[in-house]
Amino acid sequence: MSSTGATIDFRSVRKTYGKFVALESFSMHVKRGEFMTLLGASGSGKTTALNALAGFTEIDSGEILIDGVPITRLPTEKRDIGMVFQSYSLFPHRNVIRNISFPLEMRGVPRAEARRRSEKALQMVRLDALANRMPHELSGGQKQRVAFARAVVFEPRVLLMDEPLGALDLKLRETLQLEIKDYQRQIGCTVIYVTHDQGEALTLSDRLAVMDKGQVLQIGPPEELYDKPQSRFVAEFVGANNILKVEGAEPGSVMLEGLGRVSGHVAHLIAASFASIRPELIQIRREASGAHRATLAEAVFFGNSVRYVLRAADGKEISAIEPRRPGQDVLPLGTPISFDLDVADLVALKG
Ligand SMILES: Nc1ncnc2c1ncn2[C@@H]1O[C@H](COP(=O)(O)OP(=O)(O)OP(=O)(O)O)[C@@H](O)[C@H]1O
Ligand SMILES: [Mg+2]
Repeated sequence: MSSTGATIDFRSVRKTYGKFVALESFSMHVKRGEFMTLLGASGSGKTTALNALAGFTEIDSGEILIDGVPITRLPTEKRDIGMVFQSYSLFPHRNVIRNISFPLEMRGVPRAEARRRSEKALQMVRLDALANRMPHELSGGQKQRVAFARAVVFEPRVLLMDEPLGALDLKLRETLQLEIKDYQRQIGCTVIYVTHDQGEALTLSDRLAVMDKGQVLQIGPPEELYDKPQSRFVAEFVGANNILKVEGAEPGSVMLEGLGRVSGHVAHLIAASFASIRPELIQIRREASGAHRATLAEAVFFGNSVRYVLRAADGKEISAIEPRRPGQDVLPLGTPISFDLDVADLVALKG
């Protein structure tokens, strides 16, 4: 099974429900064959964006293009889009293979060929043995594999997935994340994937777009969003982070919440409202030799690491993650310690 993925463009799309604005100046370019994720809190407009692309929702203004061709006036079935939803949405009275062949039947593909192509899709998701089962005889993960096979059996150039793993437990989600990525590589279609799980977004995506209130706040590869968030919202939403208020600045030094006066390479922080630093970039010192004094307020044991919450001199709590070697004790709460960080690792944020 293969398809040449299409490019997708949202251009200043606006969608309102009465007075409520669900999408506002929503613009995004997705490359051919790219795995793009929309990441955002509940209500941020992710499903609305997918529905607009698929044709389930009419937009107020703006334009959506597939391979450079405006599609907003094209009916859903002409848009060549496969979809997988959070609820399995399998046809309850069709067995597995007849669920998968449905989109081919709709498109008038001859029976024998539809059968052959459906079996191939079923093999890809490794459910060949279950071809004759009914949906109610499948586990959640199996249902979602069938839904996936059905969405790609007609080799669409675009595949949309709206929280497809949302109803599954963590372990199964992690397995299926890897599978989905693998299938997409095999097929080559362009994917837009929706999730509010930032871990999932970081794992799966070639690029991800963080959404808030119907707009894209930042778009880029996972490493870039993790290392260089531009706003406080993205810094807090993608991965664990420490957000420190910039309390004052003068040439060569800044005053930061939790750290006090910091000098050195601080030019990038002078005009910022906030700075962020990842917990894994904070080094805990077991004696007073570090630049910043603190006490331990909380310790959470993760096996391969320990997450500490440090209470800084001004009371600000700073989270630090320390890799752990076998036999190493977790520090007791209340221990006076100190910590260091590299000023260059502080990321400047807009408010
Ligand atoms: N048919 C509708 N009528 C009125 N408001 C709607 C309608 N559909 C969605 N909305 C509103 O638009 C906003 C965006 O909804 P949308 O479903 O796109 O969010 P989402 O990002 O997919 O959220 P979730 O993660 O909860 O699925 C929400 O505030 C929602 O209440
Ligand atoms: Mg949604």
